[in-house]
Amino acid sequence: MTILVTGCAGFIGSNFVRQWLSSCGEPIVNLDKLTYAGNLASLDDFKADARHIFVTGDIGDHVLVSRLLSEFKPRAVLNFAAESHVDRAILGPEDFVQTNIVGTFKLLEAVRGYWNALPEAERSAFRFLHVSTDEVYGSLTPADPPFAEDNRYEPNSPYSASKAASDHLVRAWHQTYGLPVLTTNCSNNYGPYQFPEKLIPLVILNALSGKPLPIYGDGLQVRDWLFVEDHCRAIMRVLDAGKIGETYNIGGHNEMANIDVVRTICAVLGELRARPDGKAYADQITYVKDRPGHDRRYAIDARKIGSDLGWRPLETFETGMSKTVAWYLSHPDWVEGVTSGAYRGWVAKQYGA
Ligand code: NAD
Ligand code: DAU
Repeated sequence: MTILVTGCAGFIGSNFVRQWLSSCGEPIVNLDKLTYAGNLASLDDFKADARHIFVTGDIGDHVLVSRLLSEFKPRAVLNFAAESHVDRAILGPEDFVQTNIVGTFKLLEAVRGYWNALPEAERSAFRFLHVSTDEVYGSLTPADPPFAEDNRYEPNSPYSASKAASDHLVRAWHQTYGLPVLTTNCSNNYGPYQFPEKLIPLVILNALSGKPLPIYGDGLQVRDWLFVEDHCRAIMRVLDAGKIGETYNIGGHNEMANIDVVRTICAVLGELRARPDGKAYADQITYVKDRPGHDRRYAIDARKIGSDLGWRPLETFETGMSKTVAWYLSHPDWVEGVTSGAYRGWVAKQYGA
């Protein structure tokens, strides 16, 4: 048996490959376009591992995807591939429409063709799992209950609108064509191998290099943070036991304001590698212009995956953050590789001087 995953040279996907191969022997075919966010160095451990087959390519390439499906005959396809950064979507939404909407459509069509031609036993065992986000539900006020699976979709950014569209396509391919789909909507992830355009790795690396720690607006926006390995375990659980056609919300039961997240990082860094001048990393905190359309609060009601599938997060924010900071401190080569020219160009464009 084999599974086909997409976008697994990125942050969550590379963690998923690592967890999959350490917990079962089933081979994994990994299709990734290697955009700026895809990084083969995140998969270095598997260079010589015959169970990991890496293919460079686009989920929107019907011919390539169909060839991979007929060659490897996977029992499941897991779609992690996406343009994933909200700030990039604001500055240039087109790639988000192309990959997240058109790409998902093309992938669904290739998978439908493959699935239709499978013998009955394999057809009924097959699954298409779509990895999505809590951002599709929009923004909460402090008094609102957390997002449940039946929450109305109210995306506010080009990124979340494109992910919402992809979720709708996945749902429609189940309702109309019977494709056996599963969708997961997860909260903010953090952990090893996250590209340092996202808040947590950006703050860790800026702190270490004596740069400002940029806080958008008043810093009181709230996110629900989940350690990436907990997310990967949840995806495996949904793949194993999720009910066809259902969606599962995944979260860390850990709502925090951005400013508190950044202060926690500063404190953990202070313990693991004190600032050479003895001052506090928190002195580097700098309030900057807010993100346009910035969602105020996300929170996840993860009771369904807990009660139906028995999943719950294993890490607390404290343990997960210590592991994360320690990982960035002990992987200077990986950091050096991802913070080269193109990354510096992004930082200059987004944060100016
Ligand atoms: P990422 O940006 O780190 O990685 C995305 C990967 O997809 C990269 O390796 C990139 O090369 C690849 N890719 C992009 N376009 C592609 C295409 N057209 N064809 C094939 N590969 C392509 O993203 P991530 O943070 O790992 O997120 C993975 C998935 O999880 C995304 O679908 C995202 O929406 C979702 N998600 C992310 C979070 C989070 O906090 N990071 C939370 C919930 C859901
Ligand atoms: O909620 C799930 C989503 O979480 C995923 O779907 C996205 O792919 C992922 O990127 C993430 O989106 P966010 O926009 O919440 O993550 P980001 O790390 O970009 O920002 C987290 C919060 O921190 C957000 O409120 C914006 C703020 N922020 C971010 C950056 C990069 C800052 O204050 N300063 C910054 O420099």
